Amino acid sequence: MKNILITGGAGFIGSNFVHYTLKNHSEYQITVLDKLTYAGNIHNLETVLDKIEFIRGDICDRDLVDELVAKTDIIVHFAAESHNDNSLKNPWPFIETNLVGTATILEAVRKHDKRLHHISTDEVYGDLPINAPNQKFTESSPYHGSSPYSSTKAGSDLLVQAWVRSFGIKATLSNCSNNYGAYQHIEKFIPRQITNILSNLTPKLYGTGEQVRDWINVDDHNSAVHTILEKGDTNGQMYLIGANGEQSNKFILETILELMGKDKNDYEHVKDRAGHDQRYAIDADKLRAELGWTPKYTNIREGLKNTIKWYQDNDAWWRNQKAEVEQEYARNNQ
Ligand code: NAD
Ligand code: DAU
Repeated sequence: MKNILITGGAGFIGSNFVHYTLKNHSEYQITVLDKLTYAGNIHNLETVLDKIEFIRGDICDRDLVDELVAKTDIIVHFAAESHNDNSLKNPWPFIETNLVGTATILEAVRKHDKRLHHISTDEVYGDLPINAPNQKFTESSPYHGSSPYSSTKAGSDLLVQAWVRSFGIKATLSNCSNNYGAYQHIEKFIPRQITNILSNLTPKLYGTGEQVRDWINVDDHNSAVHTILEKGDTNGQMYLIGANGEQSNKFILETILELMGKDKNDYEHVKDRAGHDQRYAIDADKLRAELGWTPKYTNIREGLKNTIKWYQDNDAWWRNQKAEVEQEYARNNQ
């Protein structure tokens, strides 16, 4: 058995990673470190709490991180402030968690000589033009963060790379595109629109809705992370994760409306996001060719259908937060 420390394991992707690992990788003994911010939810793990160790704590807490890293073999670092819109209102938690928190983990990894996998995002590369299908992000695209969120994630990647180069720590990095699936916070695009419809509220599209995101099922992201843990080159190699899932926001929203039996034009355009990235698109050839990974769930319509069903079946999971989330958006005319 190997010990694995998962930071941010009570959030959207992290909790799916815990479930995926328990189902598919019995070789790991799991510890989760999570602060349970507004985005973390212990209920995401309630069915498996007897199979893992859960520690509520902050990745910026040097003593706690040192103690937990000393006891583990591998760290998979998901914990972050993750929502662009929040970073535009108050960047400080992003600077604290994404930069100081990652540095705290790196120092413990260095001291105890452990293996790190750092979870990052395609947003570190900025954006691409909408009408340029041949242009995609690759591992050698230049860094161009647009928001406090994406620039603090870019900074966290650079910290990992510096610790590899200067201190020789064993690390891999992955930069994934937009995930969808169960347990995603309802502040995010797809769950916000599904829960709007379930609450008889009008769905909200920022600006023209022509912006493009490269959607991937959260289990495909997590299977890719496991492939990197097994076969990735720990000299600081970076792997882009994506499943050729490019779609405009307008298409996604209209498909959700149609799948939920509504008129596909029954939504409103609201104020655009400041600095809104136009298009993300991933070239995942390195991961596919060098490590042999392939995604399993590439039918976005099927993926949206299953995601809608999850929010319908788990009303209690999101209902209490809905009014507050929408009040916050309304304050910004969104
Ligand atoms: P999330 O916001 O749903 O979850 C973040 C988790 O981190 C929460 O459980 C929260 O409580 C925890 N956390 C926050 N600050 C912490 C701190 N200081 N100490 C300990 N725990 C803390 O985020 P997510 O969407 O699951 O994203 C997880 C990771 O994946 C992030 O690093 C994000 O940048 C990256 N990522 C996300 C996507 C996406 O589409 N959601 C795509 C690519 C990469
Ligand atoms: O690309 C990976 C990134 O994907 C991750 O690093 C981030 O953590 C994750 O939040 C996500 O970032 P986005 O900003 O792309 O996701 P979000 O769900 O906030 O928005 C997706 C698109 O939908 C974006 O173009 C903005 C738009 N949008 C969003 C909301 C909340 C709307 O049109 N209406 C909305 O109500």
